[in-house]
This record gives sequence, C-alpha cells and structure tokens, in this order.
Amino acid sequence: MTDTLTPVLSANWGDERAWKLSNYERRGGYQALRTALGKAPADIIGQVKNANLRGRGGAGFPAGVKWSFLPKDNPNPVYLVVNCDESEPGTCKDIPLVMASPHTLLEGVIISSYAVGCHHAFIYIRGEVLHVIRRMQQAVREAYSAGYLGKGILGTDFDLEVTVHAGAGAYICGEETALLDSLEGRRGQPRLKPPFPAVAGLYASPTVINNVETIATVPSIISNGVDWFTSMGTENSRGMTLYSLSGHVANPGQFEAPMGITLRQLLDMAGGIRHGHQLKFWTPGGSSLGILTDEHLDVPLDYDGPAKVGTGLGTKALQCFDETTSAVRACLRYVEFYKHESCGKCTPCREGSWWLVQLLARLEAGKGEPGDIDKLLDLSDNIAGRSFCALADGTATIVKSMVNYFRPEFEAGLHTPAWELFPYEKTTAW
Ligand code: NAI
Repeated sequence: MTDTLTPVLSANWGDERAWKLSNYERRGGYQALRTALGKAPADIIGQVKNANLRGRGGAGFPAGVKWSFLPKDNPNPVYLVVNCDESEPGTCKDIPLVMASPHTLLEGVIISSYAVGCHHAFIYIRGEVLHVIRRMQQAVREAYSAGYLGKGILGTDFDLEVTVHAGAGAYICGEETALLDSLEGRRGQPRLKPPFPAVAGLYASPTVINNVETIATVPSIISNGVDWFTSMGTENSRGMTLYSLSGHVANPGQFEAPMGITLRQLLDMAGGIRHGHQLKFWTPGGSSLGILTDEHLDVPLDYDGPAKVGTGLGTKALQCFDETTSAVRACLRYVEFYKHESCGKCTPCREGSWWLVQLLARLEAGKGEPGDIDKLLDLSDNIAGRSFCALADGTATIVKSMVNYFRPEFEAGLHTPAWELFPYEKTTAW
C-alpha cells in the first residue's frame, strides 16, 4: 500500500468549473463510456467484479456481485438507482463529488446502466441540498444535448433516460428500501429484506442501488483497468476512496487515498488535531458504527481493520474529538439525531431511542440515578437487531461504544453535570 494521496475522483476539485461538460471532456471525460460501449455488458460486470469494487455507501458489499444478482428471466424492466441521500453524521463525500464533478457520476451511471441492461436510471438526492440537485440536473441536460443520454447513445442502439429526484430530507431515505418507497411517491420507510432490491426493488422490478462514490468509480476502472485498481489498497479492500475528516482537525476536508491508510497518516496530511490538543475519540465510519480512541491511530482503514477492533469502516466519516469533549454530551447529541430521524415504523427504534435520550439527558445534567448506565446498555441490547433497518443498530452501537470506552464519565453523570467537567466553550472555541 502506498501512503500518498491518490486523486482520481477528486482530481479536478481544485478547478471551480470542473463541473462543466466541456471541461470534463477536455480532461478525457466520456472516453471510458466509449470504451465500455464497445464491450459486451457481461465483460463490464466482470471487470467491476474482478476489481472487487466494494460499495462505498457504508456496507462495502461488492458492486459487481450485487449486479450479478439481477434475475436473468424477469420480464420487468431493470432500474439503476444512485443513492445520493448522504446523511450519516460526519459523511460529506458524495455531495462535494457531485458539486465538483457531476459528469464523473453521470458517466458511471451510463456505463453501469449499459452493463446491467437498465434504460431508466434515477439519481436520488437528499432534499436539503438544492444546489447539488441543480448541479446534477444541469449535468443531465448537458449530457442529453451532447448525445450521452437519450436514444441511440453515441451512435449505438443503447437508450437511457436519467431522472434526478429530490428527496424530502429524511435520514431514513438513505436506507435503500425506504429510498425506493420515497421514489415511488410514498412515505419513506424500510421494507423487510429479502427480497433484496436486486430481485424486487423499484416498482417491484429488479433494481441495482449503489452509492454515488461507487458508481463514480466505475469509469476509472474501465479506463485504467483492473490491475491498476487492484494495485491500490489492501487484500480485501481494493482501490482508492474518499475519507472525510472533520471535528477538531486543523485542516478538515476530503482526502482521497488508497484503502487501508490509517488515521495517523491522514492526520499528518490534515495538519493534525487542532493546535495544543490531543485526540480523545473518533468515528471510523460515521457514528453508526461506534468510536475508537487514540490507541487505534494505526488501524488500517479498510473493510477489515476497524472490524477487527469492534467497529466498521462504514462511510469513512472520520469525526475527531479532542480532550475537551464530553463523551456523555457527544453520545446524547448522536442519539438525539437518531431519535429525531427514526421513521417510527419499528417500536424498539422509535420508543428505545426516546428512552435513551431521557437517560442520557439526565446523565449530562449530573442528575443520573443509580442503575441508569445498566439501563442504557439494556435498552441498547433490546434495540439492536430488532428493527427492519440498520438505523436502530446505529443508535444502540454508539451508546454501547461510548459507555465501553468512557464509563467513568457516565458514572460522573450521577452527580456532576457534563458542562462542569467539560465546559462547552472549550469544546467549541477555536
Ligand atoms: P446491507 O449489508 O444490508 O446491504 C448492503 C447492500 O448489499 C444492499 O444494497 C443490499 O441490497 C445488498 N445485499 C446484501 N445481501 C444481499 C443478497 N443476499 N442479495 C442481494 N443483495 C444483497 O447494508 P445496508 O443496510 O444497505 O447499509 C448499512 C450501512 O449503511 C451501514 O453500515 C452504514 O455504514 C451505512 N450508512 C450510510 C449512510 C450514508 O449517509 N451514506 C447513512 C446510514 C448508514
């Protein structure tokens, strides 16, 4: 593994007008599409499979394998849906990608649609980010005018329509089956799986759903080849990816690097933790997969490394917190988010997250009661694995992880307010 940055997806982010079709084409954009259209669809699926491109939305499911789950004998149309509902706390990679280079995503959409036999693809973007929706719509218009979308793309017999769809601002709609409900015009709530969307997805048709970054990576694999892609990263986690550093970091931002880089290496590039402070805890994959501490700075950030220490790579949202941060308050803030975003369908998630907030709020205020910490853990055990989707698991995981590493701070919540031990002004002062 190399330890340098490997800008591919983020190569042109410094150019303010990289989003224009003419600029994208000038840099070789849409050449991968020309190459792909000269190949058999099965060859493209084979390339993505051999590259072992794993889903960048959080779960890391191999994209080529997902594509090959589509039933061969289903009479219904196949749909491709791009999940751009990015909402996991700390996650901010897909939105900059679309803003800086929407045609990278679009080229990936066209190639992937050709590979899986889809003639109508959807890009589902979270509703709050109107500027991103507009940027994507503009790119789609440019692509239609240039013959990259519509009927007979680039003189072939391949047709593709692309619809950009705005969500309504709900975290749950990033969950793939809730996203499908929302796209169909219903209230977004998760469906029971199986059947997986590959078999019965949008309008009960076979549907491929992938994250923005996953689809945007496909053109680079087609252009540069499988060997190029697999030369980066680690054994089970190939290629390069976008890591988001935020929180108490001197220069927060996106860092595109080979899979398997460590937080220590990323912090070196980001100027370290803010001056005069030390790292206390961090999330390797957004809050849903729990926290790590400064003991874990050298854990390889691939699909195996964080899992070996009881967490996961998730969305690669590395939120860093220094010693001024109260673990109890941070935990409360996260759980308030999950409570607010619970869609309410499953009782353990809806009711459990409400009760967790009550307990955490009184611990934060120094008014905890004996037994509260055991209650937190018991509630979490009764939430995890008992709901339709991973949102409930995320709620339980962050609580268990915080208590695991910082139990004495929770115990202090029986008598001392967190704001006395960790004055908020110190956490937020720069
Ligand atoms: P999952 O492991 O259930 O599924 C991953 C993907 O593989 C899905 O597309 C699923 O349909 C497919 N799949 C799995 N088994 C399959 C099978 N047997 N046949 C066909 N397809 C199959 O994970 P899920 O619930 O989709 O995602 C959870 C992750 O999402 C979390 O780990 C978290 O990191 C991430 N997440 C990301 C957010 C974001 O803003 N990007 C927000 C919240 C969570």
